[in-house]
Amino acid sequence: MNIIRKLFARKSAICCMQGGSKIHPSGNICNLQNNPSSIKLGDHTHIRGELMVFRHGGRICMGDFCYLGEGSRIWSSAEVIIGNRVLISHLVSIYDNTTHPLRADLRHKHYRDIINSGHPVQLKLGERPVRIENDVWIGSHCVILRGVTIGRGAVVGAGSIVTKSVAKYTLVAGNPARVIRQLEEPPQDVTNLG
Ligand SMILES: CC(C)(COP(=O)(O)OP(=O)(O)OC[C@H]1O[C@@H](n2cnc3c(N)ncnc32)[C@H](O)[C@@H]1OP(=O)(O)O)[C@@H](O)C(=O)NCCC(=O)NCCS
Repeated sequence: MNIIRKLFARKSAICCMQGGSKIHPSGNICNLQNNPSSIKLGDHTHIRGELMVFRHGGRICMGDFCYLGEGSRIWSSAEVIIGNRVLISHLVSIYDNTTHPLRADLRHKHYRDIINSGHPVQLKLGERPVRIENDVWIGSHCVILRGVTIGRGAVVGAGSIVTKSVAKYTLVAGNPARVIRQLEEPPQDVTNLG
């Protein structure tokens, strides 16, 4: 396999990258598992935001020709799977978990654990995988919440909060995101553009 492993000294940065992918200076890989195969990037994928997998679990896979803009974050403790040619603008957040327990006492314990001894090894945060299929475009300032699948070729308008799955080639927008209209499917396979 043409996977080149790159190890970065800074901020627990460790992941598997195809040769043509790049983590820009504003980008950050926060791999709390220190396992390179927990974060995988395809070819020609550019990262200007943050990819984080929690210590107790999580996996992030991005395909080829993907983009993650500045200030955007993907935080996984289950699984975030992103296809090919997926554009994620700036200041987008994608979570496959609740990030903190909903019960107040457990949330406070979680916070104290993090500041005293780092992220816990054993934890449940309502994990539900997120899937973003090929050719999706996510506008700036969006939030994609756990359990959501965004279908092939869909577009998420700027500032949307996506709480439910989106069908392929559909434009959604708003909080919570609602269907605006159907989008035209490309007449040819996007991979054949040369
Ligand atoms: C979705 C978008 C592409 C516009 O698509 P469009 O087909 O031209 O949509 P229109 O402007 O014709 O709007 C259609 C309807 O959707 C609504 N709408 C469009 N974008 C919206 C948004 N981001 N949030 C809420 N509603 C939105 C419009 O108000 C309009 O509603 P109406 O029919 O009740 O008047 C654009 O609004 C957008 O969000 N672009 C993202 C830009 C961005 O994030 N760029 C960062 C660099 S990658």
